[in-house]
Amino acid sequence: MAIQWTSDLATGITTIDDQHKELFARVNKLLAACSQGRGKEEVGNIIGFLEEYVVTHFADEEKLQQESGYPEFAAHKRLHDAFKSDLAKLKDEFEAEGPTLRFVVLTNRVVVDWLMKHIAQVDKAFGNYLRKA
Ligand SMILES: [Fe+2]
Ligand SMILES: [Fe+2]
Repeated sequence: MAIQWTSDLATGITTIDDQHKELFARVNKLLAACSQGRGKEEVGNIIGFLEEYVVTHFADEEKLQQESGYPEFAAHKRLHDAFKSDLAKLKDEFEAEGPTLRFVVLTNRVVVDWLMKHIAQVDKAFGNYLRKA
């Protein structure tokens, strides 16, 4: 199983789209590792990657939203903050219990669900706003 970047996920903002593509690549690395029975080896790497990624990527998006007076800024930021807290919970669990199979499955679900929904819906909505502004 792999997730596919397609042009209908594009926000039209190059830096943001490039960051999203990198996220897809990293998630695909985890999914590939899982299908080869190496999910437990890879899951710690993606948690580490995501911790840094969310800080830069969310900050970049939020800055653009504030600068452009985006009316949905507060709601969008709330979704970012909720994902950050989900990620912090994942990290705590990883540190407490290590890469159990349940943890690998949970990480896949949280990350893939969030990624697909958030980019396709709210990030894209912001891209549309910015293009019209
Ligand atoms: Fe994003
Ligand atoms: Fe976002």
